[in-house]
Amino acid sequence: MIKSLDKVLQDTNLNSQTLKALAENSFDSVLITDATARTKILYANKAFKNLTGYSPAEVLGKTPKILQGPATDKKVIARLAKTLSAGGRFEGKAINYKKDGTPFLMHWRVVPVKLGKNTNVWLAIQRETFSL
Ligand SMILES: Cc1cc2nc3c(=O)[nH]c(=O)nc-3n(C[C@H](O)[C@H](O)[C@H](O)COP(=O)(O)O)c2cc1C
Repeated sequence: MIKSLDKVLQDTNLNSQTLKALAENSFDSVLITDATARTKILYANKAFKNLTGYSPAEVLGKTPKILQGPATDKKVIARLAKTLSAGGRFEGKAINYKKDGTPFLMHWRVVPVKLGKNTNVWLAIQRETFSL
C-alpha cells in the first residue's frame, strides 16, 4: 500500500533529510523565498542553476524578479502579486530570462508553506515549457 507523504515522514522520522534529498535531486527547479512582499530567496536548488544559469549562492537574498525582463507578461505578474497577497497558490507561464539574457518560457507554481506559528515561506517549482 502506498502511504501518504505525511505518514512516510512521520514513520521514518527522517523528514528533513527526505525533503533535502527531494529538493537537491529534483529535475525541476525549486526556490524558497521568505513570505514578505519582498520575496527574498532563501534557497535555490541545483536545478535552478541548470535552468537559469544563476548559482544558488548568487541569488540568495535577491528576489525571483531577477528572472523578469521586457517581454515578461505584466498581467501574469499582477495576478501572481494579487494571489500572493491573498495567501493563495499561483500557477502561470511567462517569459523569463537566464543569467546570460536568453529568454525562455517559464512555467511555475508558487505555494505558501507554514513552518511555524509566525513563519511562512513561499515555495516555487519551476521548469521550462514550450507552449503557452
Ligand atoms: C517563491 C516565488 C517564486 C517566484 N518565481 C518567479 C519566477 O520564476 N519567475 C517570475 O517571473 N517571477 C517569479 N516570482 C514573482 C516575483 O518574485 C514577484 O513576486 C512578482 O514579480 C510580483 O512582485 P512585483 O509586483 O513587485 O513585480 C516568484 C515569487 C515567489 C514568491
